Amino acid sequence: MTDTPNQLQNLGQQAIKALDGIATLTELEAWRITYIGRKGSITLALKQIKELPEEERRAAGKIGNEIRQAVMQAFAAKEASLGGKTVGGEVSDLPAGPGHLHPLTLTMRRIQDIFSAMGFTYVEGPEVEEQKFNFDLLNIPPQHPARAETDTFYVAGLKGSDSLPLVLRTHVSNMQNRGPVEYKLTPPFKIFYQGRTFRSEKADATHGSVFHQLEFMIVNKTASMADLKKVIQTFYSTFFQKPVDVRLRPSYFPFVEPGVEVDMSCVFCGGSGCSVCKHTGWIEMAGAGAVHPQVLKNINVDPDRYQGLALGGGVDRLAMLYYGVNDIRLFWSDDIRFLRQFS
Ligand code: PHE
Repeated sequence: MTDTPNQLQNLGQQAIKALDGIATLTELEAWRITYIGRKGSITLALKQIKELPEEERRAAGKIGNEIRQAVMQAFAAKEASLGGKTVGGEVSDLPAGPGHLHPLTLTMRRIQDIFSAMGFTYVEGPEVEEQKFNFDLLNIPPQHPARAETDTFYVAGLKGSDSLPLVLRTHVSNMQNRGPVEYKLTPPFKIFYQGRTFRSEKADATHGSVFHQLEFMIVNKTASMADLKKVIQTFYSTFFQKPVDVRLRPSYFPFVEPGVEVDMSCVFCGGSGCSVCKHTGWIEMAGAGAVHPQVLKNINVDPDRYQGLALGGGVDRLAMLYYGVNDIRLFWSDDIRFLRQFS
């Protein structure tokens, strides 16, 4: 007769008694590892039952089960009394609750709903992209600084139909080409797309090398810069649930002519100046403009008969302003205290 059942009984009593002295989740986690973790003494003793000779195994198994149940119950009761959870080697002092969507997902769903309500068709495209779609068809020739190694992530060993290495898309403007062609759209059309974008940038409170962009493109016979301004203003006002002003400043992007930088009146101070808008009353939100004739030709649209408008801007920025989050890196955090605010 081996002493495994006895040994288990002693261990069980010892473990349950040790729970009495425990006052924090950190201590409870140490207890869990000692007794019932993968290499805990009770776990190992229970395993030994399997090695016992046939005639002893059944009785020992029964005792083992009872002890295990008693110990697990005492553990669960202690955990509940401390108001938290110990999780596989990490301790969270917060009660576990049901899961929920990430703030960026919530933001992108809201954005998509707003554009759908404005009559835009949602289109989708790849994050790993051919240089042709990310650059060439947008008037960004091979020597353009935007292609420099420092900005763009190249995918080692994979080439596109243009025999050039694939890239992680640096903006969602790749859809200015793919969208109308792959979804077989003929003018007039209004499309909307958004998703992850990648640039090799040093991370700080407002920049990350993975970020999100939204973009829309409108092609019809009458599109004007006044229309562009109106669509932008409607979108931002709907998103922030209050009227905002929009200001267009001349700027340059190879795929629009004219190109503009889009500023929105500060949603915090209403334009009077605060730390969020760096006391200017305006926040830089997006790039936009009238689609370049060559870009229209690239999608088989006649630039003499049709006009195009496009805007591309940051999603993370919108989520930060909407939720009052002051560091973009928090969106990548696994800190449950940050995340659960959005449940
Ligand atoms: N793709 C540009 C960027 O990432 C933004 C943009 C989109 C500008 C559409 C003009 C028109 O900065």
